[in-house]
Amino acid sequence: MIPINRPFLPPKEEYIKFVKEIWERNWLTNNGPLVIKLENELVDILNLKHLKYVSNGTIALQIAIKALDLKGDIITTPFSYVATTSSIVWEGCNPVFVDINESSLNIDPDKIEKFITPNTSAILATHVFGNICEVNKISEIANRYGLKVIYDAAHAFGIEFNGKSIFSYGDISTTSFHSTKLFHTIEGGALVTNDNNIDNRIGLLRNFGHDGPDNFSGVGINGKNSEFHAAMGLLNLNYIEQIIEKRKILYTTYLRLLKDVGLGFQVIQNDFKYNYSYFPIICQSEKQLLSLVEYLSSKKINTRRYFYPSLSSLNYIVDKQYTPISDSISKRILCLPLFYDLTQDEVVFICDKIKEVL
Ligand SMILES: Cc1ncc(COP(=O)(O)O)c(C=O)c1O
Repeated sequence: MIPINRPFLPPKEEYIKFVKEIWERNWLTNNGPLVIKLENELVDILNLKHLKYVSNGTIALQIAIKALDLKGDIITTPFSYVATTSSIVWEGCNPVFVDINESSLNIDPDKIEKFITPNTSAILATHVFGNICEVNKISEIANRYGLKVIYDAAHAFGIEFNGKSIFSYGDISTTSFHSTKLFHTIEGGALVTNDNNIDNRIGLLRNFGHDGPDNFSGVGINGKNSEFHAAMGLLNLNYIEQIIEKRKILYTTYLRLLKDVGLGFQVIQNDFKYNYSYFPIICQSEKQLLSLVEYLSSKKINTRRYFYPSLSSLNYIVDKQYTPISDSISKRILCLPLFYDLTQDEVVFICDKIKEVL
């Protein structure tokens, strides 16, 4: 079976060395030395101002909404993973969906303004599959209306725009270090900000609101992560360049072999450093997608309908909104296997099987 994803694992001996160290120290969690080391290394490598490591990308989104004290309506994309929307609802805010651009698959900034009301507090946009949002346009709109901006950068590790990590855009960027991601810490995530006060708030929120051992600054949650997770991250960081390089080769092979078979692709602008994190294909119809899924599965090739369904159609969204592009794309988009251990021969095999259906 060719899986959709196989997490990258560093040599076992390297991890065991860290495990021995953790055993000796008997310091397993609560801002341990490996967590601090991972945060510092990420800040250095990505050239960030502040980064707080948390237990996953969903809690990062929830903490971001709390840290910015958002209320009311949050303008967001209907084409993302469910966590982007569920975090808004979980925090007692109301998602207002603005449709996506058909080529980039990101929220369409030209459609945002007409949805802004006195009740709007923020824009929460996703850099879908690592294709970056139009950050300058979004920031200009947000400034004009006094809105906060959060980027869900769960797919965007290693991406740079204008010589800066994409994580440094927005009031807060959140990311996921889940094991299916390009850079992972088994489970994990982070919040990045350039603002000292916001960073302090994130630190308090992540740790129950603790402000010293006996003091609580306000309500908080447990968003901490452990030494074992941080150890995996520290090791994986050593391999990140080679992981991205390998994915680039596989991604370009897919694109070369599938470019003339009648499928659509996400259009990646060429003005930024990309990370080749996913390879989605866009079928002509849902029927074509379903026959592909079935045929590929019979050939032991796993695929994933990602993102499906369009988030504006979730059953807990009371106020249904019209997002025809997202609705249509999410019915027709399919992610193909893409991971470090995948071979070029396997990519050729997958493409041959796709061509047999088309
Ligand atoms: C766009 C996006 N946002 C948020 C998340 C949530 O991250 P986590 O699984 O680390 O909670 C994911 C995870 O798949 C994601 O793809």
